[in-house]
Amino acid sequence: PRPILLTRHGESLDNVRGRIGGDSVISDSGELYAKKLANFVEKRLKNERAASIWTSTLQRTILTASPIVGFPKIQWRALDEINAGVCDGMTYEEIKKNMPEEYESRKKDKLRYRYPRGESYLDVIQRLEPVIIELERQRAPVVVISHQAVLRALYAYFADRPLKEVPHIEMPLHTIIEIQMGVTGVQEKRYKLM
Ligand code: F6P
Repeated sequence: PRPILLTRHGESLDNVRGRIGGDSVISDSGELYAKKLANFVEKRLKNERAASIWTSTLQRTILTASPIVGFPKIQWRALDEINAGVCDGMTYEEIKKNMPEEYESRKKDKLRYRYPRGESYLDVIQRLEPVIIELERQRAPVVVISHQAVLRALYAYFADRPLKEVPHIEMPLHTIIEIQMGVTGVQEKRYKLM
């Protein structure tokens, strides 16, 4: 059975500021995670010569992957974070204050709510289809370095969690979720690196 390792990028400057979306770099703590992740991956996947590292096209995932050596890296736009449209770069507080109707509609139905000029969770789930097809086809391990909303959707698919739960799944920073698909079903392990 080949593992799929899911992780968010190391903490970004926007995470520190509480801003959503954007394309910021990683913080010092995020860089430390990137090093620990590289160490973990190189140990966990040694002798797995066909393994690969998949990131989004955003800086924070590419920087998180950068200390990992010895495996090919592939960037997928489909792994980019949920597009927050007109709210990109705002804090949740700013959205609540300046766009209270948007804030309330999202709270009411986070799965279906679509940011103006952006995406909903359902949109994200749909655009992940080619990634999932490719992940299912892989015979070698894959490390997926992506973002909170996208990883909720990917995780829910593999762990067979109901659609309505997707936007609420806990997806902490600096933690690796290892998924093993075997004949008896899906097994999961978590590694909190810091
Ligand atoms: O805050 C980090 C982040 O990845 C944002 O870029 C994104 O908008 C958000 O998480 C998604 O989480 P939620 O759907 O809970 O707002």
